[in-house]
Amino acid sequence: MNMPQLEAVSAINAASTVRGRINVPGDKSITHRALLLNALAPGGARIRGAGLGGDCRSSIACLQGLGVGVCLEGGQLTLESPGVAGFEEPISPLDCGNSGTTMRLLLGLLAGCGRFAVVVGDESLSARPMGRVADPLRRMGALITGRGGGELAPLAVNPASLAGTEIDVPVASAQVKSALLIAGLNAGGLTRISQPARSRNHTEIMLAAMGARMEIDGAELTIEGGQQLTPVDVDVPGDFSSAAFWLVLGASHPDANLEIANVGINSTRAGTLSVLERMGARIEISPNPAGAEPSGDLAVASSSLRATEIGGAEIPIIIDELPVLAVAATQAEGTTSIRDAGELRVKETDRITATVSNLRAMGARIEELPDGMVIDGPTPLRGARLDSHGDHRVAMAMAVAASIAGGESRISDSAAVNISYPEFFDELGRVCAA
Ligand code: S3P
Repeated sequence: MNMPQLEAVSAINAASTVRGRINVPGDKSITHRALLLNALAPGGARIRGAGLGGDCRSSIACLQGLGVGVCLEGGQLTLESPGVAGFEEPISPLDCGNSGTTMRLLLGLLAGCGRFAVVVGDESLSARPMGRVADPLRRMGALITGRGGGELAPLAVNPASLAGTEIDVPVASAQVKSALLIAGLNAGGLTRISQPARSRNHTEIMLAAMGARMEIDGAELTIEGGQQLTPVDVDVPGDFSSAAFWLVLGASHPDANLEIANVGINSTRAGTLSVLERMGARIEISPNPAGAEPSGDLAVASSSLRATEIGGAEIPIIIDELPVLAVAATQAEGTTSIRDAGELRVKETDRITATVSNLRAMGARIEELPDGMVIDGPTPLRGARLDSHGDHRVAMAMAVAASIAGGESRISDSAAVNISYPEFFDELGRVCAA
């Protein structure tokens, strides 16, 4: 599966107008789950509209290493799994690339599958905290060792029997919750997971569609081990996190009108819609007929933005959109604060430092906080040399900033967009008039 090659540095100039209709890639979170959850059950499933960026391809490659058949034909993925009991013991390390979702959910899946496996990732992923998944899995009986005292990849998983356990997860993380739900399915007895706040619920929705019984009480979930799941065909809506770049570009640019077709708008995921609406963004949502996951067509037009306060329980449902929301805040009247978002420091890069340093280079009035940032606006941005730090969302957020700035910007390592949105720069060129 070849990835389109982009130049390592992209040059971007201010757009005079922004117009068009965009189809964003299939939702990355839902695609990972359609692959990894269907792999748990023996049988076949079709996944239509899957996201096929680098991260989802990492999930595909890891499953193939376990003997799960995954084929791509005519843009549709077909998966044929022997089920957990039939997994092969992988002869090579399972390479999760840059994908935290792949590594964390896979650890949940490997912990109780009775096979030996090693998971590895790229330099960024190898620096990200895996103890938040490995530690609770160890409490369930998993035998996981790894670098950095067992906290970092590479991690080795040995065969073990898991026992259902009560787990208080200290961070509101959909990845941790999902890993523990998957492990709970392969454990004896009940697993109860309490999180400090709700996080995206794509795993719960898909497991329910596969016939899993689960109790959900706010941010607390209980699942019973040993349940038989049935594979499910999945229609993947467009990725809200990818759509967010267009929403901010449309709302922040003085002469813009954009439509974004068929975007996932699950309320545990698309909290950025409320934030942008609070900021005065002119966004219209036309819901599509109900599927397993809610979706709709979005339209956005140039808006007079005002500042807002962002923090608390809202953070987990907007976490991936915070860098581009910071770009919107530079164009908003007043002082925007983003707090309680320390999790941004352990994403593909430290997204607080990366966002603050890039926007400051463009002339933004922005201050870094330990758990967020404060931005005074509106400020006309100017073109600058920008550093993606190899992070796909930083690259795209800065491309949006560059499209509303005066003069030319150059973004290093812009090929990072291949992780979630390989067509991003082509689409940006298409909708922006020079
Ligand atoms: C994801 C959950 C979030 C998010 C990531 C994808 C998922 O991470 O940042 O891009 O698919 O579950 P956390 O759950 O660790 O916050």
